[in-house]
Amino acid sequence: MGREIEMVLRIPRTLAFLAVCLAARATSAIPDAPLPNGNFEEAPDKSQLNGTNVTGRHAIPHWEISGFVEYIGSGHKQGDMLLPVPEGAYAVRLGNDASIQQRLAGLTRGTAYSITFCAARTCAQAEQLNVTVATESDVLPIQTVYASSGWDCYSWAFKARRSAVTLVVHNLGVDEDPACGPLIDSFAIKALHPPQRAKNNMLKNGDFEEGPYMFPGSPWGVLVPPMDEDDYSPLSPWMILSSTKSVKYVDAAHYKVPRGTHAVELVSGLETALVQDVPTVPGRQYRLQFAAGAAGDGCAGDGCAGSMVVQAYAARGSVKVTYQSRGKGGFTRGVLDFTAIANQTRVVFESMSYIMKTDGTLCGPVIDDVSMVTVHIRRPARRLLQNV
Ligand SMILES: *[C@@H]1O[C@H](CO)[C@@H](O)[C@H](O)[C@H]1NC(C)=O
Ligand SMILES: *[C@@H]1O[C@H](CO)[C@@H](O)[C@H](O)[C@H]1NC(C)=O
Ligand SMILES: *[C@@H]1O[C@H](CO)[C@@H](O)[C@H](O)[C@H]1NC(C)=O
Ligand SMILES: *[C@@H]1O[C@H](CO)[C@@H](O)[C@H](O)[C@H]1NC(C)=O
Repeated sequence: MGREIEMVLRIPRTLAFLAVCLAARATSAIPDAPLPNGNFEEAPDKSQLNGTNVTGRHAIPHWEISGFVEYIGSGHKQGDMLLPVPEGAYAVRLGNDASIQQRLAGLTRGTAYSITFCAARTCAQAEQLNVTVATESDVLPIQTVYASSGWDCYSWAFKARRSAVTLVVHNLGVDEDPACGPLIDSFAIKALHPPQRAKNNMLKNGDFEEGPYMFPGSPWGVLVPPMDEDDYSPLSPWMILSSTKSVKYVDAAHYKVPRGTHAVELVSGLETALVQDVPTVPGRQYRLQFAAGAAGDGCAGDGCAGSMVVQAYAARGSVKVTYQSRGKGGFTRGVLDFTAIANQTRVVFESMSYIMKTDGTLCGPVIDDVSMVTVHIRRPARRLLQNV
């Protein structure tokens, strides 16, 4: 009898285990890797180029274009300006209203994927790229330069509703000069594992270990731009809320990361919030804890004191954490005790100032190792006895 019960209990667990294995296998059907000709090194046939103009819809191997698209080699000059190419020898420039697309096959339905690509403005002040897969689309602002190379890598994510979908990147620019559009290069894809709740943490992905693809050799990190709240975030379930400004996803290989292999650098001051919504019980007390510090990327903090300030909010509570950065990394810990006032509490992180490195690029404090737990209040002994 006892054994039978044990068997009954065991079977579902075995099945659950199998399901996890199958899901993991299915997810790896498409590797975390650059897209086919994602770096545009496979060139169009010469017959389909006029100068830099790409003349055939299918001229660029693995891609389809529409509108005025140029194939730019490194060393190409525009006026006096040399157009840099981030990876390899070639990149693509999208003119006004031009787009480029690629069919992505072998996806697992229901799985979320992140797309990473690099882009640079050429002459216009601000550019906007509309990135679409099926019905999900977001407008990525290609505006502020965060990397000193002039190229920034951006991430975006979608949930696959079919096993084959089309990724479209459309330049919404309306520049007077059609040759002023953004250069794009280095496309990659990565399957995102559904965020799990870790032990002793009500937040998911509190360590930011699950995030967009990063090019192993790239020292620039990957920007996570603001997105519609309904869309899947590359840092899910964290969301980036802002009108146009991003946060930067950084890796331990190139940055000082408080814990694990990744963290988030708040590079856009007060204009951007990093948020996560957590189910809570109104009236119950919670404790939010986090690491805040410097990424060791030469970001020396604001003002003569060189301080970085992170503010965290939850319900009606908030806490400011200051870290004195000398540009070499290190972190401190912040704690916020708060009482929930709703079914759901939005945990918010912001950098309180704009900080610029000596090369003129924006930077800021890093956030990592974020956790939230219920605070159990000790009741008087008598009441405890009564409850028993
Ligand atoms: C290339 O463009 C020039 C100028 O627009 C045009 O005169 C020429 O015929 C084009 N060449 C080809 C092969 O299409
Ligand atoms: C390339 O296309 C642009 C936009 O249509 C045009 O202004 C330019 O003359 C073309 N260049 C060549 C060499 O055809
Ligand atoms: C972006 O593209 C999608 C799909 O084509 C479209 O529905 C959406 O309106 C576009 N967004 C903007 C701002 O143009
Ligand atoms: C909490 O959720 C319940 C049911 O889901 C709803 O009826 C109630 O209005 C919610 N309360 C608050 C404070 O949001």
